[in-house]
Amino acid sequence: MATYLEQLETPVPIVDLDRLTTNLDRMAAYVTLHGLQLRPHVKTHKSPRIAADQLRLGAVGLTCATLHEAEVMSEVCDDLLVAYPPVGAARLERLMRLPDHVRVRVAADDPASLDALGVAAKLGRRIVDVLVEVDLGMHRVGATSPAKALAVAQQVERASALRFAGLQFYPGHIRAHVNEQAPLLRQLSQDLAQYIDVLSDAGLAPPTVSGGSTPAAWRMHEIAGVTEVRPGTYVYNDRTTAQIGACDWDDCALTVLATVISTTVKGQGGIDAGTKALGREPLRAEGERYGAVLEHPDAVVSRMSEEHGIPDLSKSSWRPRLGEQVRIVPNHVCIVVHQFDEIIGVRGHAVETRWPVAARGRASNQTLESPAGRPRAV
Ligand SMILES: Cc1ncc(COP(=O)(O)O)c(C=O)c1O
Repeated sequence: MATYLEQLETPVPIVDLDRLTTNLDRMAAYVTLHGLQLRPHVKTHKSPRIAADQLRLGAVGLTCATLHEAEVMSEVCDDLLVAYPPVGAARLERLMRLPDHVRVRVAADDPASLDALGVAAKLGRRIVDVLVEVDLGMHRVGATSPAKALAVAQQVERASALRFAGLQFYPGHIRAHVNEQAPLLRQLSQDLAQYIDVLSDAGLAPPTVSGGSTPAAWRMHEIAGVTEVRPGTYVYNDRTTAQIGACDWDDCALTVLATVISTTVKGQGGIDAGTKALGREPLRAEGERYGAVLEHPDAVVSRMSEEHGIPDLSKSSWRPRLGEQVRIVPNHVCIVVHQFDEIIGVRGHAVETRWPVAARGRASNQTLESPAGRPRAV
């Protein structure tokens, strides 16, 4: 195993372990201060190791998007929210096959999705907690009026194997700088209050109101009624999060370690991190292009092929040397993590540990009959 960064084959995602610890501790302190429950989204790290740290620091459970994430996280957690519409027979079957020790919660937004969920839960001999997902501005999924949310909640209540657990929303549309989020959060608070009121008047006061993202993470206590938050990106942070002001540049814990592989083109230094390492994610806030050099934030990766990245040096004093290693802060860290099998944990220049991105991919549960009659994974 490599001992120093210089020995690592690049491109490779590396995590500054001190920064990771700071990020985890800071969120744990924030929720404690404001009396909120933390149910972090695992889609950023996809790692039971980090999930276990989050739980040790007080998280009440974990949030997953895919069933593969839920299966992997069931190794370390017995309270999982699948914050994704429970639609499709294969998804339901897999949901019900989660280990018995797991308390399963799902977010649902449509009464039409609940019959199949109710039957699956009954057949699976489990009680499924349902959070009614509401659309508070993201316009992706979610009931679009309090009356529609109430209809979902009432349908849940009618199903013997389902239990109404509360409301869920995702404020992913809030991308303004942290200092400019007040009017958006006020609006969100007012809209949410209408949902809570209508449900409460009908005798279905939501026990849990689950919201949260990383850009709005530090102001979630301003939204009346929220009991639980689900940030994911905060563990590693990224260029977008720093631009939004939800973290400092020095809080970016994960970078892609890359090597300068060519300096022949005048004024350029090509690196070995392209789209297959950084993704082609746009910066979702003010700014441009695909990632920036940690030590030289003015050097921005402006062009990419699959295995090549070309930093724009026009605003930077950095002059790349052939063979030099650089750390790239990606625009969207979750996409980077998803592209690698393993993360390297470092302190300074020393490689200290490594861990698998255990829940990456989807690890299909599909099986086909093989010629020998035995099922095989496809
Ligand atoms: C439903 C849901 N909850 C929570 C999160 C976490 O948000 P963030 O990545 O901003 O931390 C996401 C992110 O995609 C999400 O889709």
